[in-house]
Amino acid sequence: MWGDAPRRYAELHRKYGPIVQTGPYHVSISESRWIPVVYDSKHQFRKGKFYDVFRPLYKGKPLDTVFTTSDPALNKHLKHTLLVNLLNKPQLFSKEIDYSVDVFIEQTKAAKGDSIDFSSWTFYWAFDMTYALVFGDHFGYMASRKDFNGMVSSFKTIVRSAAVLGQVPQWCPATLANKTFMGFCRSFRSFPDPTIQLLEEIERKIHNHDTQSHSCGNSLLCRVLSDGKHKLEENAYDEAVNVLFEAFLAAAGEVAVSLTTIIYCLLKDQRVYTKLAKIVRSNTDADHTYVSVRLITRIRNAVIKEALRVHTSNSPPIERVVPAGGLNVDGYFVKEGTVLGIPQYLAHRDQAVFGADAEHFRPERWLEADAATVKSMDQNFMTFGKGCRGCVGRELAMMEMRAFVFKVLGELDVEWASSTRPTTANYWMMEYFNFHVRFTDASSMRGRS
Ligand code: HEM
Repeated sequence: MWGDAPRRYAELHRKYGPIVQTGPYHVSISESRWIPVVYDSKHQFRKGKFYDVFRPLYKGKPLDTVFTTSDPALNKHLKHTLLVNLLNKPQLFSKEIDYSVDVFIEQTKAAKGDSIDFSSWTFYWAFDMTYALVFGDHFGYMASRKDFNGMVSSFKTIVRSAAVLGQVPQWCPATLANKTFMGFCRSFRSFPDPTIQLLEEIERKIHNHDTQSHSCGNSLLCRVLSDGKHKLEENAYDEAVNVLFEAFLAAAGEVAVSLTTIIYCLLKDQRVYTKLAKIVRSNTDADHTYVSVRLITRIRNAVIKEALRVHTSNSPPIERVVPAGGLNVDGYFVKEGTVLGIPQYLAHRDQAVFGADAEHFRPERWLEADAATVKSMDQNFMTFGKGCRGCVGRELAMMEMRAFVFKVLGELDVEWASSTRPTTANYWMMEYFNFHVRFTDASSMRGRS
């Protein structure tokens, strides 16, 4: 309720032990050896009613997406379309991603060292970049350097509200998709609902695709519509809308928050910042041998993973429902239908896995560890979820974040622009407030310690 779920779960487990009943139908487990059981690979522990709250209303009915559905067949089917057309070969989109980063750099240069609200700018960048991959052109947030249609702020509001309402789904079945409730809410002009804007935008884009001869290039839109089935069958049309909707909404916010986290960790730790900036700036494309490219990629991945380990973008436990027959957890019987979760916050701080300094941001741990330790750290790394419902966009997201962090850091220096530090809230997705930084040309700050 108050945006500090990770810390509260940690307190509850400290007080009551590794298995805690946190609500009438909710149980939290802190021991990470249960991760492969609860987040299994065969759809045994399914998603529950928490996810219904995230379904948008489309054509008068709740739209079950790859993210929200508890039906393995629908999940598999929609996921296949996403994988084949966008996520299996993220490198095909490197041109679009690089271009988006260049626009970000241009805009920070235009800001001429002024203080900027970085946690908003990462949303502008991620929304624009994701829009480019999904639809083939830019939304225009970066160019205007503001949330010109209110979609970013309505996105944050709706995710926050859905996370809280999702804890009591019986009180508000299918909130975003509840016609009466949403009809009432939407009668207020200022009601924030990005799903309406997005669904309208998608239908407009499909119409333009079918009626105009302009090219939508490499985009998911072009790929999904290429067989023309959506013109002949309503189901195929609805499925195209569904996939385009999810590809945008599942990706943009997560990437924005994760990027903010990475920069936050680097700014807090000047040792890592300086080391990384040196590595990035001392390697031009001309020096790259196969070995150095692999090493640099490992270092980049280590910095990103470590930041996302310490500050996971979704820290409240990811919920799954106990299947028929119940589950015996170390002598406690958990009934069928109970909502179970393992807080990522705790899995990421397990000292038996990450070492005595598990609390601290230290990217080197991923580079120094032997293969067995890396394997167990990876098993505990829950930032992208786990099991058959884990994130399908992980590779694309890593590529986007690598491109952003290292292209930006290659050209620019970043520092706090205020003596006060950002604050955070974590309902479902981490939110940062008052994240004021300034970017300057990298050369002007060489030698900073
Ligand atoms: C740093 C960025 C990202 C993070 C931290 C992240 C995190 C997550 C997490 C934790 C889940 C599991 C949620 C749950 O079980 O409730 C998930 C699922 C998902 N993610 Fe991501 N994600 C990121 C980027 C992306 C991108 C770029 C896409 C591209 C489309 C994407 C698409 C999805 C989809 C479709 C699912 C649902 C998969 C399913 O239920 O089978 N994500 N993500």
